Formats: sequence, structure tokens, C-alpha cells
Amino acid sequence: EIYLNGMTGAVPRLPTDLTRLEELAGHRLGPGPVGYVAGSAGSGSTARANRAALDRWRIVPRMLRDVHERDLSVEVLGRPLPAPLALAPIGVLSIMHPDAECAAARAAAARGVPYILSSASSTPMEQVAEAMGEAERWFQLYWAKDRDVTASFLERAKAAGYTALIVTLDTPLLAWRPRDLDQAYLPFLHGVGTANYFSDPAFRAGLAKPVHEDPNAAVMHFVGMFADPAKTWPDLAFLREHWDGPIVLKGILHPDDARRAADAGMDGVVVSNHGGRQVAGSVAAADALPRVVEAAGDRLTVLFDSGIRTGDDVFKALALGARAVLLGRPYAYGLGLEGQAGVDHVIRCLLAELDLTLALSGHAGPGSLTSDDLIRDSA
Ligand code: FNR
Repeated sequence: EIYLNGMTGAVPRLPTDLTRLEELAGHRLGPGPVGYVAGSAGSGSTARANRAALDRWRIVPRMLRDVHERDLSVEVLGRPLPAPLALAPIGVLSIMHPDAECAAARAAAARGVPYILSSASSTPMEQVAEAMGEAERWFQLYWAKDRDVTASFLERAKAAGYTALIVTLDTPLLAWRPRDLDQAYLPFLHGVGTANYFSDPAFRAGLAKPVHEDPNAAVMHFVGMFADPAKTWPDLAFLREHWDGPIVLKGILHPDDARRAADAGMDGVVVSNHGGRQVAGSVAAADALPRVVEAAGDRLTVLFDSGIRTGDDVFKALALGARAVLLGRPYAYGLGLEGQAGVDHVIRCLLAELDLTLALSGHAGPGSLTSDDLIRDSA
């Protein structure tokens, strides 16, 4: 479609190379918000390692395999999806665009791509659900210190039609992020990303005064309770008790942690280092993937994120054993640049490139990919 439009002289409004969106967004939206989205932990070495690890794998295309009819669909956590893609949970999206999470969720819904709503969204979960109609949505939990708030979030998410729970484990504390520290830019401190909390009865019950009477105290209450570095594996029983649907642990990098997840009755894991935003010097997510896939066996659904920018990145993650990938920063830039249409552009480009990469490499769909389709570049 993009090529055919090109015949009429109509060029796309945004670049089709998604790696160019960050710079463009930086020009249009300024360094504060885009710096926050682009930023990583420490010197940025983990985010660079994520890209380098994907680049080291090279695709070995196969010929003459009849790829004229193709199908990107997969089954993930028992649900049929049109493609092996979901939008990663990204909090505070109102710093990128006033329509924030609702615009991103609508774009995902229109393509049948699951939208994972962050606990730290700038829009309450019920409002995002309403914007999506019946479309597939999952809820990402920042596992609060306060059990009542956690239980209340799970109840609300269930009532609002979120089908899977994604529990992010890699953020018991916010990491050392020099870009934000140097600019003293942390959206939370301005009350951005607190919508689910400020609208929650259990959260409000913990405040001395209503949010509107003392917003600063409410923000500080949020900062003090949104995560909990004291949690351990047995605590997962609480989540299992309060959530009937699939539970997926996000931020798993070690094979033993994958085994523990399966032992604890979890349904899946996301191999992720939070896009390089948490542990500076962490193993690249793609380097961690094969060992986690092996440990998971057929006990867990393995998803992947951190560094996905192109169709061939998706191909590689699937060939290494991921069932589907989550896309992070590129859709946030698309949102910042063009709202819902920008997110739609990002999803379409990524899936079109994946489709072509599969076809040109001899695959009619993701189902036939194996690690034999890749070779490790030793250079
Ligand atoms: C994130 N991520 C994230 N993860 C999560 O579980 N809950 C959250 O609220 C957020 N918020 C968030 C904000 C911003 C600005 C970014 C960039 C990332 C991490 C996200 O879900 C995902 O793991 C990474 O973005 C994937 O890496 P890439 O695709 O950005 O390289």
C-alpha cells in the first residue's frame, strides 16, 4: 500500500524506517518528554547491547518454498492473535500526546494487536477499556506494597475486560537514569502516571486528605507505595488467588527464574530488561532469550521485548523461541508525532516488514521458524 501510494507521488507522513522516529520526535516535542522515553539506565550500555545482540543474529533465507499465501497469526496465552505482536506497557503517555493511552489503545484495537495498559498510565484503566470496545487488552501491574490497592487494581482490571495480567518484576525501585536526573525530569513527581491510583478507592482510603486538597501528599504516597523491593517468590500466591486469567511475569532474564515462574503456577514470562532502563550493564534481552526458552519448555509462554525496531528483529526473536514480541519506544514516538495515526503507522510498518522478511526467507508464517533460520555473526 505504501509503495502503491508512492506511485501517485504521496509519500508517507512518517518515515517507514522506525529507527528514525526518535530523532524526529525529539525535534518536534522537545528534549524533556522524548529524553524520558529514549532514556536508559546508567550510560545507556544496556539499551545499546539490546540492539547489538539482535544485530549479531543473521537470517539465513531459504528458497523455493511457496510463500505466495501468508498468515502472521499466532495463538498466545490461549487467544488467537492476528500477528505475534503486542504493544508494551508504557506509562505516562500524556507527556507524548494529549490523547495518550486511549489513542495508542485505539490504534492497537483497530489492528487486533493486544494493548498492554500500564499501571502508571495517565488515563484510568476503565476509560482506556471503553476506548477499545471488545478488543484484546492486558493489564500491567506494578505490584504495590499495599495489598488492598493491588487487589483493587486486579478487580477493576477484570471488571474492565483486561484478560491477562502482566506483572513487572524488574522495577522494585526506579533505576539510576542520568538523563532524567540531570534534567530533574520525572513525570511522576508532577502527578503524571497516577491516574489509576488517584481513581482507586483503596488508594484514596490511605490518604489523610482527598487528592484535590493535598495533591503533593497524594503524589508522595504514590511514590512510596507503587513498588515493593521486599517481595519474594512465595508472594506470587496472592496474585494467583486474586486473578483467574493468565499471569505473565515481565523482566525475566535468568533460566532459573523462568523455572520458578512455572513452579509458581505462572502462565508465561516476558524476557525483557525494560528496554535497558533498569539494570545498567544487564545482559542484552536477546542474549538471555535462548536459555529462558529452553528452561520454559512447554510449561510457559515466552514473550520478548527490549530493542525491537524492525521486522527482522521480530523474525529473530521468534526464531529464538519467543511466541510474540512487545514493542516499546517506537509506538510512543509515533504517538507523540501523529497521535493514533502515528501508532497505526508504526504497527503497520513493523508488520509489513515482518511479513516481507518471512516471505523472502521462505516462511509463510511464524509457525515454521526455528533457530536453524539464524546464524550467529562472529565478526
Ligand atoms: C517503559 N516500560 C514499562 N514497563 C512496564 O512494565 N510498565 C511501565 O509502566 C513501563 N513504562 C515505560 C515507560 C517508558 C517511557 C519506556 C520507554 C518503557 C518498559 C516497556 O514495557 C518495554 O519493556 C520496553 O520499552 C521495551 O524496550 P524497547 O522496545 O523500548 O526497546
